[in-house]
Amino acid sequence: MQSQHPGPPVSKLVREMEESATLKMASMARELREKGMDIIDLSLGEPDFDTPHHIKEAAKTALDDGYTKYTPVNGLPELRKAIVNKLKREYNLDYTMNEIVVSNGAKQSVYNLCRALLDDGDEVILPAPYWVSYYGIVKLAGATPIEVPSSIDNDFKCSPEAIEACITPRTKFILYSSPCNPSGSVLSLEELEALAAMLKKHPHVYVISDEIYQHINFTNDHHTMAAVEGMKDRTVIINGMAKGYAMTGWRLGFTAGPEWIAKACTKIQGQVTSGASSFGQKAAAVALDADHGPTHDMVKAFKSRRDLIIRLLEEIPLLRVNRPQGAFYIFPDVSGYFGKTSGSGYEVKDADDLSLYLLSEAHVSTVSGVAFGDPNCIRISYATSDAKLTEAAQRIAAALASLK
Ligand SMILES: Cc1ncc(COP(=O)(O)O)c(C=O)c1O
Repeated sequence: MQSQHPGPPVSKLVREMEESATLKMASMARELREKGMDIIDLSLGEPDFDTPHHIKEAAKTALDDGYTKYTPVNGLPELRKAIVNKLKREYNLDYTMNEIVVSNGAKQSVYNLCRALLDDGDEVILPAPYWVSYYGIVKLAGATPIEVPSSIDNDFKCSPEAIEACITPRTKFILYSSPCNPSGSVLSLEELEALAAMLKKHPHVYVISDEIYQHINFTNDHHTMAAVEGMKDRTVIINGMAKGYAMTGWRLGFTAGPEWIAKACTKIQGQVTSGASSFGQKAAAVALDADHGPTHDMVKAFKSRRDLIIRLLEEIPLLRVNRPQGAFYIFPDVSGYFGKTSGSGYEVKDADDLSLYLLSEAHVSTVSGVAFGDPNCIRISYATSDAKLTEAAQRIAAALASLK
């Protein structure tokens, strides 16, 4: 019998969905490496450190103690309590355990929130550059991402006026990360207060504050919108274990926000995953309560790598290099190379072309800024050794020098 449906048998949703640009670059790099090429992969957002010993030990103990069953959908009470304590300790904010939802990574927290809050036709403001997945997940939820551009000239930050100009009656929330992936920019208390002052005029607009890079902040001055006066009831904090504790593979994230939003996220999660892994949650509770010495050591290493990569990239003539204050990415403006051509006739028209050129010519994998909402830049992750960063910068410099 002939199929009723023309085209491939996957859903329209999947056919129209973009593949994650960062994962795509990483898999292209992996394929080339499997073919024997010496690729330096600077595309993925993952600390190169191992999970600290005491956290691994806590997971082993939890397994031995029989933590091998389902937990409550919104998370083990013990972990939610540790999160409540963390928020009190760090922000002096009072949350109840019913306002916390633990998920399989901050990415799932973003997904839960989008499914919980968005209807078809709603709008979400994404100050650009933004984390790639925000765009895809907002679209998945049937809503429309509204991008607000910025540039390296203002440290990739959007003014409250530029954001306000994008607010409509359909705007549900603003979604951003600080420290920011991909730019590494960090919003100061004054900048958050200015944004909050503007939002006072628009009480229907919520804020989703993704703080997954909270600890990787070289200013030592992390602030959350939730702690700005009048904003706690309109803000949902997203955070997780992946970056600050080198626990990417554990898949543990969480949200803190008004109880009605937590309930809605829990309802969705109950149908999709039933919650995060039991022994992982036990270990996460230990990680949050314990001394953060290993995190501070990692941050020290990231800061010295940041200084190194800035120094190396600043020597490349047409690159404009930003000075990230957090996370572990640098986001240089590469537009000075647009319109140039390689010896083999490859023309670099945009950041997509440049990123592909660096992969094929320099064997260094980066991610084009296009997917992050900034077509003039590329994202380079410096979560790797000094030796690899030095070698990668030399290769990039040589490949760019041969563009005429
Ligand atoms: C800004 C931002 N939010 C969330 C995530 C996802 O974190 P997780 O691994 O906990 O899902 C990432 C990972 O790259 C990120 O950069």
